[in-house]
Amino acid sequence: MTFAHPSQPASYSWEATSEAVAERYGLPVESIARFDLNTVTAPSEVAERAVRAGRFEVPISEYPPSDYRRLVAAAAARYGCDPAELLVGAGADEILDLVGKAFIPPGGRAIVPTPSYAMFGVVTSQRGATVVAVPRRPAGEGFALDGPAIRHAAARDGGADLIWLCDPNNPTALSEPEGSLARLLDELAADATMSDRRAPVVVLDEAYAEFVDRSQADLRFRYPRLVVVRTLSKAYALAGLRVGFALARPAVIEEIAVYRPPGSVSVVSIAVGEAVLLDDTVAPGAVARLGEERQRFAAGLTAAGWSVLPSMTNFLLVDLGSPARAADVTEGLLRQGLVPRTFPAEHPLAAYLRLTVRDREQDDRLIAAAQALAAR
Ligand SMILES: Cc1ncc(COP(=O)(O)O)c(C=O)c1O
Repeated sequence: MTFAHPSQPASYSWEATSEAVAERYGLPVESIARFDLNTVTAPSEVAERAVRAGRFEVPISEYPPSDYRRLVAAAAARYGCDPAELLVGAGADEILDLVGKAFIPPGGRAIVPTPSYAMFGVVTSQRGATVVAVPRRPAGEGFALDGPAIRHAAARDGGADLIWLCDPNNPTALSEPEGSLARLLDELAADATMSDRRAPVVVLDEAYAEFVDRSQADLRFRYPRLVVVRTLSKAYALAGLRVGFALARPAVIEEIAVYRPPGSVSVVSIAVGEAVLLDDTVAPGAVARLGEERQRFAAGLTAAGWSVLPSMTNFLLVDLGSPARAADVTEGLLRQGLVPRTFPAEHPLAAYLRLTVRDREQDDRLIAAAQALAAR
């Protein structure tokens, strides 16, 4: 377990922009393919129709209704919860930020099972709090959460304020075994009761839930301080729309809502978000297409000699054996205009690359590049 004491807040780091890659390698910018952002290619026809129809609740000269009521109603129907259990944000990222503001005090402590989504550490650090990194189990054990280590960290130093969980987890692409999160939450609640402290808030980021067709949002009824995070950026193929949700018990939502800005989600986003959430085919259709393409992409990379880990999500983790080889391969891919997600030298996945499953044409370019690099 490592403790990082904040001096200056951490910030999110992106891969190079398409323009920067194009300029550096002398390529047309249209030829750059992004494998780093975990998006799903091509919005659904339902979304495109809603944009074209242009029937927004209020003209775009006006602010969106303050309660985002149409979007909330559609999300409540889709996620099977009460509207009072939802809070809308400009993507899951804004929700993570608001949750951090509500529940991580300056000088506090938040637990991040690592590796996981980079924003958990960033938000914690920006709150002037300490990131308590708890390593996950090794790749051979599916990078599963280390329950005893999380409980231990949560109990130390007067108790952690918050625990960031992600299932399925980015960047390890796998989901926790059935029942393990419920068990962990029960244990955390019991530990807190025994030592007479408040149980930590637990954030369960379910950005990729549709890909495993499982949400564990019902755990909020046994662990009332659970905040589940959902988004339209992944299975709904609408990352550019910027719509995400917190799903939690009404009292918890009220605590988060204090930090909500007046109108961070646009009237266009409300209309399109409502349309896709009310449609039964959008997410399942994207997930089915993705499943087939993921298998084809993984098989192609494996045939090129790469070690591709199992994935339940819309991205693959590739083990290149060493950080030097990962850097070499990254350079080779960038030369072809293919942008992978890399991990810095100190990261537990420094020897890996993360690759979003794209469409057939882009994936074939990456497979061809992998073959060429293997042949070198
Ligand atoms: C686990 C996780 N949470 C949140 C996000 C951000 O989602 P949004 O686009 O809704 O802000 C991502 C994006 O990659 C993610 O992987």
